[in-house]
Amino acid sequence: MTGTVLALLEDPPRLVDPTTPVLRADDLGVARGESVFETLRLAGGRPAFLDLHLARLARSAERMAIPLPSGWERLALTAAEAYGDADGMLRLTCSKGSAAGAPVGFALAGPIPVETVRGREEGVTVVTLDLGVPADLRASSPWLLGGVKSTSYAVNMASLRAAEELGAQDAIWVSHDGQVLEAPTSTVAWVTGGVLVTPPAEEIGTLPGTTAHVALGLATVPVEVRRGTVEELRAASEVLLLSSVRGVAPVVRLDGRDLPVGPVTSALRAAFEAAVRSPV
Ligand SMILES: Cc1ncc(COP(=O)(O)O)c(C=O)c1O
Repeated sequence: MTGTVLALLEDPPRLVDPTTPVLRADDLGVARGESVFETLRLAGGRPAFLDLHLARLARSAERMAIPLPSGWERLALTAAEAYGDADGMLRLTCSKGSAAGAPVGFALAGPIPVETVRGREEGVTVVTLDLGVPADLRASSPWLLGGVKSTSYAVNMASLRAAEELGAQDAIWVSHDGQVLEAPTSTVAWVTGGVLVTPPAEEIGTLPGTTAHVALGLATVPVEVRRGTVEELRAASEVLLLSSVRGVAPVVRLDGRDLPVGPVTSALRAAFEAAVRSPV
């Protein structure tokens, strides 16, 4: 695993060979998908927006009843420093552990896949997929774990495969009653009438995106956090997917309709990339 770094959550964090096995076969993360994770950008030897990611990791762990051990900041900084100055990505994982054991934490750093950078620079083609639930269901039924970043992402991965079968590179989930939710690994935003719109994560049980939080704060156009319909999305002048590693990615085709890389997306992408690289 050239160019990858693995650090274990110990006191102090311990760098090990990246091929080292770290989980037991009876770990509940493996057996039941009961683990939480964060993926973040590395730039200049530093994890970007670490505080936001660690706060969300703690919230996800609470929702999954995983007693989160301490030491994550030091773990992330250790892995980032060992990875070096190149652009990269860092995945922090906390698995529930075996039934009688304690949670297990580790950090894996590595390079960003070329297709991810290409998606940011050239844009992605997207289809909408019906998630099959009303927009209010995930927030009112917390056991569905809407808004939790757990490793139970098999549905997310299946959605990406379904998109691929439909000739697209990514998907946007819409609720059964026609509202825009999120993408399997990104927050959705769009531009309508010069306003940048994104759905309210807490209200509709989607993941509160750190990229959306940072990027929308950098927007030079008005921002609205509100619900939107799939019809509004399809009529938007610009559609964006926001996520930590890919950053701000323009959607260049939505449900078969070509879209330009518009001025709001271009400005936001540049502002976000600058923010990733600026020291805190
Ligand atoms: C379902 C989902 N929504 C939104 C996001 C975007 O979150 P962030 O910007 O913090 O990477 C992700 C990131 O992986 C995600 O998995």
